[in-house]
Amino acid sequence: MSVLEINGLNVYYGNIHAIKDVSLKVEEGEIVSLIGANGAGKTTTLQTISGIIRPKTGTILFNGKDITKERAHNIVKMGIAQVPEGRRVFSQLSVSDNVRLGAFTVKDTAEGLKANRKRFYDIFPRMRERKQQLAGTLSGGEQQMLAMGRAVMSRPKLLILDEPSMGLSPLFVKEIFKTIVELNKKGTTILLVEQNARMALSIADRAYVIETGRIGMEGPAKELAENEDVKKAYLGA
Ligand SMILES: Nc1ncnc2c1ncn2[C@@H]1O[C@H](COP(=O)(O)OP(=O)(O)OP(=O)(O)O)[C@@H](O)[C@H]1O
Ligand SMILES: [Mg+2]
Repeated sequence: MSVLEINGLNVYYGNIHAIKDVSLKVEEGEIVSLIGANGAGKTTTLQTISGIIRPKTGTILFNGKDITKERAHNIVKMGIAQVPEGRRVFSQLSVSDNVRLGAFTVKDTAEGLKANRKRFYDIFPRMRERKQQLAGTLSGGEQQMLAMGRAVMSRPKLLILDEPSMGLSPLFVKEIFKTIVELNKKGTTILLVEQNARMALSIADRAYVIETGRIGMEGPAKELAENEDVKKAYLGA
């Protein structure tokens, strides 16, 4: 059984047919990347998975269960966490309060939650030094770490990331991608949306290319990275 299975998804914004017959799968333990140009429909796909946008037709299964009509907060509770585009931390709250809020859907003992917070600061040591800092005053890259950390605090089975590298310097991009690989090694299945196709394909097991709402190509990430059309359109070759 796949962790995530999307079949024949169609999403409209009014008359605009944004997602056209999209089907994709994410298997347990995989990093799957969805790449595509601006406006291709990446964010729309992710928001539909998270229950923020309703599809017109199609189904979304999570561990075999139909979640197509499930409410967004239930989807988080079931184990899908999403880091939205543009990070969105609570800028008026401290780093430490942001981290605490990330775990608010988790039913756990105080001890368990504390251990979970320690795990977060172990993954992102930079955040430990900045616990009291207001999240809005963190640098862009640090906010991305915090947003990822918050999502990880809900201990998701599936972590969905929408362009985590956007606007970051090469050094931070490297660090963010390294963290994604580490989270995956520790057992989190990942669906990664990226415009940085080169980086995304370098860490993904499989990938899908979305073009104006439709899946144009799919396959092992290594094969796509060698594909001439992909190279021309997305790898600047
Ligand atoms: N709320 C909305 N109302 C109307 N059209 C929308 C809305 N949100 C997105 N769209 C349109 O749907 C299409 C897909 O947008 P989407 O945000 O999913 O693209 P994307 O692949 O995430 O792009 P980017 O890489 O620029 O973030 C675009 O043409 C966009 O203009
Ligand atoms: Mg987007």
